Amino acid sequence: MSTPLLLEPLTMRAASARNRLWLPPMCMYSVDAEDGVVTDWHVRHYAARALGGFGTVVVEATAVAPGGRLSPRDLGLWDDAQVEGHRRLVEAVHAGGALAGIQLGHGGRKAGTPPWLPTAEGGAARTSTLAGWDLVAPSALAYPGHAVPRALSAAEAHEVADAFASAARRAVEAGYDLIELHGAHGYLIHQFLSPLSNEREDALGGSPEGRRRFALETVRAVRRVLGEGPEGRVLGIRLSATDWVEGGLTGEDTAVLARELVVAGVDVLHISTAGNVPARFPTGPGYQVRFAAQVRQAVAAMTTTGGGSPVVVAVGRIESGAQAEQVLLTGQADAVAVGRYALRDPFAPLRWAHELGVDGWQEAGFPAQYWRGTWA
Ligand SMILES: Cc1cc2nc3c(=O)[nH]c(=O)nc-3n(C[C@H](O)[C@H](O)[C@H](O)COP(=O)(O)O)c2cc1C
Repeated sequence: MSTPLLLEPLTMRAASARNRLWLPPMCMYSVDAEDGVVTDWHVRHYAARALGGFGTVVVEATAVAPGGRLSPRDLGLWDDAQVEGHRRLVEAVHAGGALAGIQLGHGGRKAGTPPWLPTAEGGAARTSTLAGWDLVAPSALAYPGHAVPRALSAAEAHEVADAFASAARRAVEAGYDLIELHGAHGYLIHQFLSPLSNEREDALGGSPEGRRRFALETVRAVRRVLGEGPEGRVLGIRLSATDWVEGGLTGEDTAVLARELVVAGVDVLHISTAGNVPARFPTGPGYQVRFAAQVRQAVAAMTTTGGGSPVVVAVGRIESGAQAEQVLLTGQADAVAVGRYALRDPFAPLRWAHELGVDGWQEAGFPAQYWRGTWA
């Protein structure tokens, strides 16, 4: 039997993941001390998914500036003192056999909310901006239910791009193999991209080219830090391909953007949707995969600045080995990310290898210590 595509290695610049399954970034809101520093919870949580067989484990949205945290309990990399904890996290992920990635972000107008943990009544608390938070955004337009942000000056916007680069430098020091910029879900980079949240008339707005400028500037600044050649660290970006509303970003806009991002130094395009404005959209199995396919088609003939092929990651209710394999076999993506399913089953990759007929412990990626527990 031939090896499923899902279990084929994935090469990105000098890094090689053992398979094509990603743990996407998922906020844990677990920094009890509110200082952005990695805790034992983070180490255990991410190490478990690495042992579970994921080829690439991407650590949750990590703030590049304190005011950019989505909640006070977010991870950070705005200070050199935060590097040591991330080093511990990277070592734990590597010990489980996975590449270690980190998502760097700034919440913009959606920053400064309480952690989204379950309330006593059940359900997640998603209340508005915490009092006193200095909320910034491309334009002084509030996300419904949140405080009205202050529009960043052009100089301040460049400072935020620099903060992304400084945080990326710290991520490299911590040993991360891959840096993913959070350009999705209505956070700052997405706010600049979308006409629904960017009404600027200076060089950072005013036209599709202007609205793309902040994302591209940030990518170039981070690429310089990561190294330009084939040995440079892997740079990814997560995008919301569509705002799912009339007048917002569309899959076509994102296909154009994706090509410019690859020229600017991006290796990986991780394609999600939504989050910039309230919207209703279908959320069945694989609900976002077609947008990944559209981006993959747009960049298919391109070469990254590292000399390889751009990698496109699909995400969104991919919940079985057969479904994941189908996404790859039909050429819709190069890798798939598995979020909520992996919260209930850290061993999803080993389970899915079994579903696809791979039971040998080495082929499936079982840790040697667990070989007696294989499905065979
Ligand atoms: C608890 C939780 C936290 C999340 N945090 C992030 C995050 O930090 N960054 C991000 O880009 N997406 C985040 N997401 C979105 C997931 O990465 C993923 O795109 C989404 O859950 C859809 O994939 P799934 O259907 O496999 O869960 C989060 C999702 C969940 C459930």
